[in-house]
Amino acid sequence: MTDPVFVSAALFSWYDRYGRDLPWRRRWPELAPAYHVWLSEIMLQQTVVTSVIPYFLDFIRRWPCIEDLACAPLDDVLAAWAGLGYYARARNLHKAAKFVSEQCGGQFPQTVDDLLALPGVGPYTAGAISAIAFGRSSVAVDGNIERVIARLFGISTPLPAAKAQIGRQYAAIMPDERPSDFPQALMDFANAVCTPKGANCKSCPFAGYCKAFAAGRVEAFPIKPAKKAKEMRRGIAFVARARSGEAFLIRRQDSGMLGGMLAFPSNGWATRGERFNCDAPLDAAPFPAKWQRLETRVHHVFTHFAVEMEVAVAVITSPTIVALNASGGDWKMVRPTDLPSLMRKVWEVAQTAVADSH
Ligand code: ADE
Repeated sequence: MTDPVFVSAALFSWYDRYGRDLPWRRRWPELAPAYHVWLSEIMLQQTVVTSVIPYFLDFIRRWPCIEDLACAPLDDVLAAWAGLGYYARARNLHKAAKFVSEQCGGQFPQTVDDLLALPGVGPYTAGAISAIAFGRSSVAVDGNIERVIARLFGISTPLPAAKAQIGRQYAAIMPDERPSDFPQALMDFANAVCTPKGANCKSCPFAGYCKAFAAGRVEAFPIKPAKKAKEMRRGIAFVARARSGEAFLIRRQDSGMLGGMLAFPSNGWATRGERFNCDAPLDAAPFPAKWQRLETRVHHVFTHFAVEMEVAVAVITSPTIVALNASGGDWKMVRPTDLPSLMRKVWEVAQTAVADSH
């Protein structure tokens, strides 16, 4: 039988010794500002802590409070977000900042139900903000905590059906004290000890209570649903450069993949079923030029599909004439930090090419 009091006490001892100091984190009884907790949680959705830290620090330096972020031009927010991936998150971030700033007088809601009204905030993030920023006893189960709980209780139902049971077991071991530390301690523990592979059960203070450990099947939990192969899409990106060094960039439509981001014109990959003409991919070029297809391809993995992208390059001698014909784009000096990761990779490949000039 799992002893909830022993488990949470052992977890807190572990956290007091090994927990990370993170820029958005405070230790109970101090609570971190809700703005910091929310911002970090949105950034941490599908991105690892070490990658998030510089972005988090940059955001709070540029926009020290939620009103500042709400007033910032969306383009600035998207540019600052570039590289974190999944741009819908940055759009929702900006929408949520406006919502809190305009509808809630700049004060974050405190309950899970109220937090769920914010764009981009789902059950985990709502629970995390409520617990971490407001010290409430809310359930906050992300994929990492899910793993710890599924192992501890040997939950044999596969995900995602197991989520409800995992939530109940989380609530069962949640202590009354240190409500803001509890989910953060579990996250650090999941990251350092109860890892997906090579779990360090020797360092686990409650391995004696762990059902998965007792069964010698730690890595079998959580039980995953049968895996579907990730869809593979093909596409092509067009990098036109002027002799001045500028390149032809477009701003992508607000909706859809990489919505609102700067990008090279591209074709074939962004929507399911979009036609990619593998026999004549240059037919999709944004304007006529002496396009040269490169052999090196760009590989990029999004949450729901993977892309293999060809890169075509051209050197343009009369960019002004081209710009007149190609609507919706502009010649700009490329700053890789303004580009989403896929387009940064495209740019890197394009730069390796010694394009024929024309
Ligand atoms: N992953 C998601 N949220 C986190 C947090 N608050 N601390 C550490 N890792 C996290």
